[in-house]
Amino acid sequence: MCGIVGYVGKRDAVPILVDGLKRLEYRGYDSAGLAVARGSGLKVHKAKGRIRELEATLPKRFKGAPAIAHTRWATHGEPSDDNAHPHCDESGRIAVVHNGIIENAAALRLRLEAEGAVLRSDTDSEVLAHLIARAGGDSLEEDVRLALLAVEGTYGLAVVDSERPDRLVVARNGSPVLLGIGEREMFAASDASALVRHTQQVVHLDDGELAVLTQDGFQTSTLDAQPTTKTPSIVDWGAEAYDKGGFAHFTRKEIFEQPESVARTLQGRLDGRFQTAHLGGLELGPRELLDVRRIKLLGCGSAYYSARIGAHLLEQLTRVPTDAEPASEFRYRNPVIEKDTLYVAVSQSGETFDTLAAVQEVRRKGGRVLGIVNSVGSTIARECDGGIYLHAGPEVAVVSTKTFTSTAVALALLALHVGRVRDLSPAAGRRLIEGLSALPAQIQSVLDREAEIEALATRLAQAEHAYFIGRAAGHPVAQEGALKFKEVSYIHAEAYAASELKHGPLALVSPETPCLMVIPDDDLFEKNVSCIQEIRARRGPVVALCHREELPVDVDATLVVPKSEPELDPILMGVPLQLLAYHTAVALGRDVDQPRNLAKSVTVE
Ligand code: AGP
Repeated sequence: MCGIVGYVGKRDAVPILVDGLKRLEYRGYDSAGLAVARGSGLKVHKAKGRIRELEATLPKRFKGAPAIAHTRWATHGEPSDDNAHPHCDESGRIAVVHNGIIENAAALRLRLEAEGAVLRSDTDSEVLAHLIARAGGDSLEEDVRLALLAVEGTYGLAVVDSERPDRLVVARNGSPVLLGIGEREMFAASDASALVRHTQQVVHLDDGELAVLTQDGFQTSTLDAQPTTKTPSIVDWGAEAYDKGGFAHFTRKEIFEQPESVARTLQGRLDGRFQTAHLGGLELGPRELLDVRRIKLLGCGSAYYSARIGAHLLEQLTRVPTDAEPASEFRYRNPVIEKDTLYVAVSQSGETFDTLAAVQEVRRKGGRVLGIVNSVGSTIARECDGGIYLHAGPEVAVVSTKTFTSTAVALALLALHVGRVRDLSPAAGRRLIEGLSALPAQIQSVLDREAEIEALATRLAQAEHAYFIGRAAGHPVAQEGALKFKEVSYIHAEAYAASELKHGPLALVSPETPCLMVIPDDDLFEKNVSCIQEIRARRGPVVALCHREELPVDVDATLVVPKSEPELDPILMGVPLQLLAYHTAVALGRDVDQPRNLAKSVTVE
């Protein structure tokens, strides 16, 4: 949610920052801007709209370093030229880019205005520029520190000062900031995608830390000026992993990467000798796992739906009562935290504010949390007591696809591991290992049916409403299918539990409302056939997502997926729904990679 990037060094920062902004655009894309600090003053260029529009209007002489840039997802104040970042003080000396929310901005604004400051935007962020400019310290870092002591809220920020044009200062509290170490140059960004073209050596700032960057290096300290020591790490992925690589959209690229991304999630983790999963990062021994009486999974959006699939798997394979709950709601109900419950936070980005807040709520009350996370070194990964990395690779499209699938696979590995500590038999363990090993090739065979799915999507693109229906573990598949569909196509889509249909939603079924029914070949097959019959009786068109080429009930179309082990079927069934949503959106001319109103990482409350 919002992206920041900064540069200090000998090169012209502008092309570096514009490229960085394009790579961060998935974090927010309603307005953007840059500021260059030179001894002669600040140069600022910012505008409502996409980065390409900003780039097209950049004056030819807009050059120099140090510089900072921002791409915005509006929280305070509508998208507009004035509300775009960077924000400056009225003298035009200080420029600030900011991610997060300044909670006491209204009070600070009143105070600043009473002191004669002239604020030009509706944003909470602008107060930072005025506070820094008025701080009266001996250095830019001291000014930033003094300003931040007055601030309540979250921030990842970068600041330049035209009177100190050899440096930029960054700080973090609740919104990620990474430093990139180059050859006599330094970078800062809210995530690695903006840096990897220039350096893979990075430093993650912690909350409450501030860094001063010059071309010769960096110094970090706490807000009360105590120096801190940081160890650089190497980003796992090169620049090409963040490119479209010949695909029209990141979304399609990431859907098609799934055979490899799932193979990476599984790599080195299937233990055929003991018919279990080897999970080195759990930090939990068999004795501790035997003491677990309940498992609670927490995540938002697609991560939550993936967690629901995982909850079914875990309960089936471990016989430990397991459920999933939206992390966004969890902390608001003052949840009871029990010491024999194992909490598992699920997040692609590892930065989702609501999921992080849920983790902190559990840990504050003494609970133990594992993280299932894609982004290595992310905040949630670092705050958890242990966990599993997905290794799915960077996911750039706003909609989750490959990480949804890899999350379910990681939860299957967890279920296998915990199950084998408890009552799951070696034979069942072997059956699951075989099922998991077969997934990459089975996913490929689903992707090979793209033409068929695309033809169906062209028909669905005519609908105003679509319903996705599933039973038991098929319900989260339907939920994720509906979420994907509405996110990228903007067609109204809802998911219902098959068993709930006759308790109300059936009233919505008509010849104009396609219903996609998840109907795996399992012991609930006959019940799902009855459900289709009920829809057909109301003349509702039905698309069946199934294992059989022929069904014992009349349907309008089938999407056939290969049969896996029953526990793993929901993982495979999610894949065609991703392609269905993608092609429906393409047929409607939607911006598939960056759907309206959304951002990839939801780092604000
Ligand atoms: C799904 O397509 C969305 N991108 C969204 O629901 C996402 O899954 C959710 O915001 C959670 O993000 P996270 O996995 O990064 O925590």
